[in-house]
Order: sequence, then C-alpha cells, then structure tokens
Amino acid sequence: MIEVKNLSKSYGTKPAVNGVSFNVQKGDILGFLGPNGAGKSTTMKMITGFLQPSGGTAKVGGLDVATDPVAVKQQVGYLPESAPAYAEMTVGEFLEFVAESRGFRGGDRAAPVQRALRLTNLDTVRHQTIETLSKGYKQRVGFAQALLHDPEVLILDEPTDGLDPNQKNEVRALIKELAQEKAVILSTHILEEVEAICTRIILISEGKVVVDETPAEFQARQPGARLDEIFATLTKSDV
Ligand SMILES: Nc1ncnc2c1ncn2[C@@H]1O[C@H](COP(=O)(O)OP(=O)(O)OP(=O)(O)O)[C@@H](O)[C@H]1O
Ligand SMILES: [Mg+2]
Repeated sequence: MIEVKNLSKSYGTKPAVNGVSFNVQKGDILGFLGPNGAGKSTTMKMITGFLQPSGGTAKVGGLDVATDPVAVKQQVGYLPESAPAYAEMTVGEFLEFVAESRGFRGGDRAAPVQRALRLTNLDTVRHQTIETLSKGYKQRVGFAQALLHDPEVLILDEPTDGLDPNQKNEVRALIKELAQEKAVILSTHILEEVEAICTRIILISEGKVVVDETPAEFQARQPGARLDEIFATLTKSDV
C-alpha cells in the first residue's frame, strides 16, 4: 500500500530526511520511532503530499504522490503533528466541512460524520467550538477528520500525544481494529505503544533508517532490556 524509495528532504543545505526507503502492507501498523528532529514528521508530510520531496519517491496504492497528489490524498487519512485549525467552528461543523471537502454532499455527510464522532468519542462535544476544547479533545478532532472518509491508509503523527491514559488505550484499540483493513504508519515516543499495537518498527535517526524489523526482532537485540534502553543505544550520537 505504501512504497517509499530513497525519500529525501533538505531544508536549505541541511538534510532532514536522507534516503529513506520502506514498504507498508495492508494489516501493518508501522511504528515510526526516532529522537526529536530525526525526520519522522517530514517523512510523513512527504508521503501525504503536504511537502515536496527533494529526492526519491513515495507511492500510495501504486500512485506516485508527486504525479497523482489528489488521488493519493483520497486514499490517505492524515493526522498532522499540530492540532486542527478552524478554532471558531464547532466540532460538528468542522467535520461536516471535512466531509464536504472529501466529496460527501448534502445528506450524505451525516453518516461519515456520525461514524467519526462515535469512533473518537466526540458526540458529547459536537456543538462546542474547537477553541474551547481541552488539548486531548482537540487531538481527537484531528483523529476524527483523519478517519472520516474511511481511507485505506492512515498516517498518524503522534496520535496519542496529549491523551489521558484511558483515551490512549481507546485510541490504540481503535487503530488496531481499523488496521485490519488498512496500512497504518504512526509515529510515537511511547515505546509501550509500539509493544501494544505495532507489527513493525522503523527507527530513524538523523534522517536515515537505522532499524526496520518486528518488535520481537528489536527486543532480541538486547534480550531482557527495556525497549527504551535499546532505543537509546541505537540513537546515541558519537559526536
Ligand atoms: N519548515 C522547516 N524549516 C527548516 N527546518 C525544518 C522544517 N521542518 C523541520 N525542519 C527540520 O528538519 C528536521 C526533522 O524534523 P521533523 O519535524 O521531521 O522531526 P521529527 O522526527 O518529527 O521530530 P519530533 O519527534 O520532535 O516530532 C529537524 O532538524 C527540523 O528542525
Ligand atoms: Mg514530529
């Protein structure tokens, strides 16, 4: 479903993503790990077509995001790093707006909006403006807009960031359930999240893939060690 080949991005002369390659199949939940500034969000932005690569290709469902950006966006749900804008809209109005821009017209908008509200437990704040929501609820609005059109691919940039422990678990369970029929990439700094739901780990450091393996293989690098200890050894800079 997702094929990334030699993807690169430089800001000025500084490389943020430097020759990243990997594939994601349907049913995979790829845990995208790496220290702050490693290039996770930049890679995700290029796969979703929000940022033009400096080099390499990203394909979704066989379509190149550089040449078919609209078709790719139709297949992808994207939760960006920052909370949703449109602060003065209510949650319901915002999701109606997203449904409209996703091509649902008139009465056809109700069902996907209802589904997104239900899956993310937002029914109770449907009539509240986004600016008055707590951080965790804003995060859920971002998640709701990402899954509204029931896309084949979900790209989730730190989906449980800012959620309380119960909500973290609910969102993880939801991702796991949805992933049976989708290809999912999620970035996270929470290693227990990787253990709980990811079928694969990609660790990137300074814009390069350092690890691409299953959680079991990752653990086998240092049997008995905690994942964060293994993470620390692999990302330690020797400069
Ligand atoms: N718009 C930009 N202009 C210049 N540099 C940028 C820009 N966006 C990102 N960068 C740089 O690119 C590098 C990778 O950033 P990115 O946001 O992809 O990291 P990340 O892995 O998502 O980090 P985090 O865990 O903190 O979210 C960093 O060095 C960052 O400073
Ligand atoms: Mg990031």
